[in-house]
Amino acid sequence: MFVIQTSQKSYRIVHPHTGNTYSVAEKLQENLLRKGHSVSIEKIIALQDNQQDVQKIVLERIPQISGYDALIFGAPVRGFSLSPVMKAYISQIPSLQQKKVVCYVTEFFPYPWMGGNQAITQMTKICEAKNTKIIATGIVNWSRYRDKKIAVVVEEFSKLLSS
Ligand SMILES: Cc1cc2nc3c(=O)[nH]c(=O)nc-3n(C[C@H](O)[C@H](O)[C@H](O)COP(=O)(O)O)c2cc1C
Repeated sequence: MFVIQTSQKSYRIVHPHTGNTYSVAEKLQENLLRKGHSVSIEKIIALQDNQQDVQKIVLERIPQISGYDALIFGAPVRGFSLSPVMKAYISQIPSLQQKKVVCYVTEFFPYPWMGGNQAITQMTKICEAKNTKIIATGIVNWSRYRDKKIAVVVEEFSKLLSS
């Protein structure tokens, strides 16, 4: 799972498990770099990656968001839901007011209704409770049309964050 943070010129990302979400973040980074942004990737690290109870999750590494005017959050789907580590992370960060925020999830199954939609809805709600409006979301299904879906997310996010 990840978070990508962006200031006008800087982008970051967070927390891979098997690497799927991270590889999308790397493609986003490459694209944004090509558009002239300065980009860095960071990880959200939890003490126990498989803890399901959000209240019990202890984050070892909590990337700071101050100084950035835009953020990209990326996370895997876990049990038809948003990864609990990402839930814990977003609930711990300060207000997202006046930041551009976009988010995406990766999931194994081929259809968005197999966890992706629910995870995006959850991530949107948690972010919007922090006083921001999500300007774009994306779902990458790893087992079907993966490359095409990654390309769509990368293109759309890069365009929005560069405008
Ligand atoms: C515990 C667990 C639960 C998962 N639940 C789902 C699920 O409900 N739906 C789905 O499509 N994929 C599910 N997956 C697959 C991951 O969402 C998918 O492989 C994702 O791309 C992994 O991203 P990562 O490599 O960044 O961790 C699950 C994976 C794990 C380990």
